[in-house]
Amino acid sequence: MRNPEPLILAIESSCDDTAAAVLHGEQVLSNVVSSQLVHSQFGGVVPEFASREHMKNIRAVVDKAMQEASLTSRQLDAIAFTRGPGLPGSLMVGASFAKGMALALKKPLIAVNHMEAHVLSLLMQEKKPSFPFLCLVVSGGHTMLVLARNWNDMEILGQTRDDALGEAFDKCAKLLGLGYPGGRLIDELGSKGNPKAFSFPIARMPDYQFSYSGVKTSFLYFLREKREEWIRENLPDICASIQDALLKPVLEAGRRALREFGTSKLGIAGGVAANSRLRSLLSEICLDEGASFFYPPFEYCTDNAGMIGRAGWFKYQQGDFASLSESTSSRLVIGQS
Ligand code: KG4
Ligand code: ZN
Repeated sequence: MRNPEPLILAIESSCDDTAAAVLHGEQVLSNVVSSQLVHSQFGGVVPEFASREHMKNIRAVVDKAMQEASLTSRQLDAIAFTRGPGLPGSLMVGASFAKGMALALKKPLIAVNHMEAHVLSLLMQEKKPSFPFLCLVVSGGHTMLVLARNWNDMEILGQTRDDALGEAFDKCAKLLGLGYPGGRLIDELGSKGNPKAFSFPIARMPDYQFSYSGVKTSFLYFLREKREEWIRENLPDICASIQDALLKPVLEAGRRALREFGTSKLGIAGGVAANSRLRSLLSEICLDEGASFFYPPFEYCTDNAGMIGRAGWFKYQQGDFASLSESTSSRLVIGQS
């Protein structure tokens, strides 16, 4: 009989956040994230720098998570890590560290799918959905609509054909000369502006697919015709308007899926789930459709190890452990783990 409340150390290093968390059963004892600042000067993540920064930070991040949980490593029941998807070099650092700890401590190793963990982050609070539920996973690397029938039975109903929603936010923020990542800044500035001030065309795609590559070009043309001073004066209206254009396809997909799949539960997960406008518009849509709306607490929206531990808990209960030779996979998709 397995411990129903195991102590799990979880490690996440799929992109540019080095993160570690300790969970006692479903309860998060610590959740430490070290975000890499080096990328902001390049306006995007530089993979080589990301893996180097992970190597520099991972020991300290894991030690901090253990200290905050007031535990020694011998007390752990298992080590969970992100197997993929993500940047190959970054994934390798977290996986190697987790394997080293599992080997030294003679503890089981759990390999977690990063995207499934984003979906399961919806369970990390009191108001959580029961299976089955729909989830829009919107991050810097992914935009997909997922039907979660169970923790280990998820189906991608549709996804982006090119850029991810978070990436589109970041690219538009870059064109406006805001910092990186700029999604949060567009959210903040847009909250003070008029979303109907300007309109931007955005691709309408069939079958729950999304496309964001064109909007950047139309936004670029829009800005090119304006003076810098005018842009500065109208920044809140510009942010509010481009934000609504970017959000429109996922809002429509959410409404359509609630009607089509007959489930009355819709959640959002991933970095863009922190967006205040997305939360408020989707909550209105759910109210309209007689559905319940779920979103994770802020700290579990952007990349974090708490959600890796939460997903790892399910695998621990099933005895679904990884071997020390388990490889990382940059292109792992939902349903493959
Ligand atoms: O999930 P995440 O931390 O990393 C990936 O797995 O990609 O998501 C990061 C993305 C970035 O593109 C960032 O700009 C976006 O989430 N983001 C936001 C907000 N907070 C973070 N986008 C819009 N509004 C926000 N408040
Ligand atoms: Zn992510």
